[in-house]
Amino acid sequence: MDFHHRESRILPRAARDVQRCAGQTPTANLVPTTVAAGCAMPEGARMGRGESLLSLFPPGSDVDGEGMLRVGGCRADALAETYGTPVLVVAEDALRARAREYVDELAARWPRSRVVFASKAFPCTAVQRVMVEEGLGLDVAGGGEIVTALAAGVDPALLVHHGNAKGDEEIAMAVEHGIGLVVVDNADDVDRLEAAVPAGRTQDVLVRVIPGVTAETHAHVLTGHAGSKFGLEPRAAAELIRRIERSRRLTMRGLHVHVGSQILDVEPFAASVAPIAALGEFPVYDLGGGLGARYTYTDEPPSVAAYLDALIGTAREHLPAEAEVILEPGRSMVASAAATLYRVVTVKRGAITFVAVDGGMGDNLEVALFDQRFEAGIAGRLETADGEVVIVVGRHCESGDVLVDGVALDAPRVGDLVAVPATGAYCFTMANNYNGTRRIPVIFAAGGGARLVVRRESWADLLARDVV
Ligand SMILES: Cc1ncc(COP(=O)(O)O)c(C=O)c1O
Repeated sequence: MDFHHRESRILPRAARDVQRCAGQTPTANLVPTTVAAGCAMPEGARMGRGESLLSLFPPGSDVDGEGMLRVGGCRADALAETYGTPVLVVAEDALRARAREYVDELAARWPRSRVVFASKAFPCTAVQRVMVEEGLGLDVAGGGEIVTALAAGVDPALLVHHGNAKGDEEIAMAVEHGIGLVVVDNADDVDRLEAAVPAGRTQDVLVRVIPGVTAETHAHVLTGHAGSKFGLEPRAAAELIRRIERSRRLTMRGLHVHVGSQILDVEPFAASVAPIAALGEFPVYDLGGGLGARYTYTDEPPSVAAYLDALIGTAREHLPAEAEVILEPGRSMVASAAATLYRVVTVKRGAITFVAVDGGMGDNLEVALFDQRFEAGIAGRLETADGEVVIVVGRHCESGDVLVDGVALDAPRVGDLVAVPATGAYCFTMANNYNGTRRIPVIFAAGGGARLVVRRESWADLLARDVV
């Protein structure tokens, strides 16, 4: 992974603001900031100061009589003591409740339906197992997610297999394990499937269609726009559908569409239905995932109900009533169910105050890859009205290794626990060993008890793949 280009380009927003306030030209610039007063506090964060940081933590989180954050009824300091830091804490009840909400809300609007969790958002066997226990299927993108899904006890018939570059081995795994639906992204998928499916058997497939819809989100997580690398434009899709319909090894079951991720309004989802409906009537329509999660005070993602009112409302207009509808939520299913706890390693005060913690882009790449803003607080002093505005940075050798760029923390000092909410999506899955860090553990917390579901990597794990 090469992030080195970022070192010269990215200067945290708060640092740029400090330079501006000092009458300097910011040394590196990406986006002009709107912040003037306060020098280093992003507008969104300042606007939100009246709001409770607690509201960004998993539902059911609270602060005990001593002012300590509790997730799943467990004190943050006790979790940190027992499991070390950084640690990813999942509120199991919140996770299960969200899964049920999705299933119930979809079934209420389209009874012949299925929710499949987009495993890529949190491909941890324990999380996939929760989804299976709650009656969901799993979307798997690649062999590794197939392996963990099977270990989680999923019925392979409830798996939906994705990928824009599925290799021979993955296609063979999908066929061998009897995966319910393989989503064909390109003609080479069809070649590979036809070669892999044994005589006398057939494989059900969907075809992924580019709906030509854009949405207000980071360009790196848009997928349904014209020119996307995922799926096929409608005309090419129609051709491939005709080929699949002639195949003796494949059964054409339906269509798939996915607009993108962290989408905070409902229109793009609704707009993606008509383009696929125009390709004809099929037994199955997979309408993807993409609903946004709440990371900051100012984020206002639609509720699952509002999202489905729009999406299924449009589906009723365009899709055959007897068809099965599948949804693939990832981010909105898991983001808010977890938080990460870090220990402050050093506080460097100057024109800017840097609070450096013991994790960073090794356990949260969302900031570096998508400019995602997170909030943070000191776990034992969460609700700070007039904290010191700081940049929370990680321990990695990149200036782009910023966890929160401009956030008010209450008198941060070495040894404090910093809690970052809404880290349930795409953090675990993009974790890496940059600078030889060990990937962090995952804890399930519920009802005041906690259990380790993924252990911290060991130093030995870092050597485990060496062959000399
Ligand atoms: C095909 C597909 N389905 C579902 C998802 C889940 O999206 P999200 O996590 O935004 O809900 C993704 C993520 O990019 C995807 O590529």
